[in-house]
Amino acid sequence: MREDERKARDEMAHLCRSLFERGFSVGTAGNVSIRLTDGILMTPTNVRLGDLDPDRISRIDADGTHVAGDRPSKEVFLHQAFYDTRPEAGAVVHLHSTWATALSCLADIDPDNCVPPLTPYVVMRVGKVKRVPYVKPGDPRMGEMIRDLQGRHAAVLLANHGPVVSGKTLFSAVAAAEELEETARLIVALRGMNSRLLTPEEVAELDATFGRI
Ligand code: 13P
Repeated sequence: MREDERKARDEMAHLCRSLFERGFSVGTAGNVSIRLTDGILMTPTNVRLGDLDPDRISRIDADGTHVAGDRPSKEVFLHQAFYDTRPEAGAVVHLHSTWATALSCLADIDPDNCVPPLTPYVVMRVGKVKRVPYVKPGDPRMGEMIRDLQGRHAAVLLANHGPVVSGKTLFSAVAAAEELEETARLIVALRGMNSRLLTPEEVAELDATFGRI
């Protein structure tokens, strides 16, 4: 096995375990992928993210064919759509983490901008978050909905399901998924209160200093 794939498998098992141990994933919820030069590594379906065996992680080739490891996640279409529309994406993390999932269920959020700029880090690490309509887990239409966004969003909420976050690396995608989760918790905690948001000028300053996600 190539050295880059070996390292990617080990890193995926390590970071997935960390997410699981800290409660960002429970049961067999969530799936994670990493882009390779000629395909993707994808968590197998119906596994606990805390128990991944690096050698059994699924490998999908550039044509979308499953070529190694256990049967891949049913959400492979969703991950592939991020890679196809965001050339800079090197990894994708989908979770059912509690607060971001709670946000995905609220009837009265703005689906085009469901995470207001409450703190600098959510602007810097997550960017503008779109909610896409509900379809059942594993429905290929999820991939079509992501393609329709034409790569404009690094992170989305799947309605009544949970967050999906892409990043340049697996480390950055995981960090952004954690940031989104904690921000969703703040949003729910502050509901009904008169909270101050960052101003457009403050958001622009962050974009100019740290770049756009
Ligand atoms: P998989 O076990 O097929 O990855 O599905 C888990 C999940 O989170 C569905 O959204």
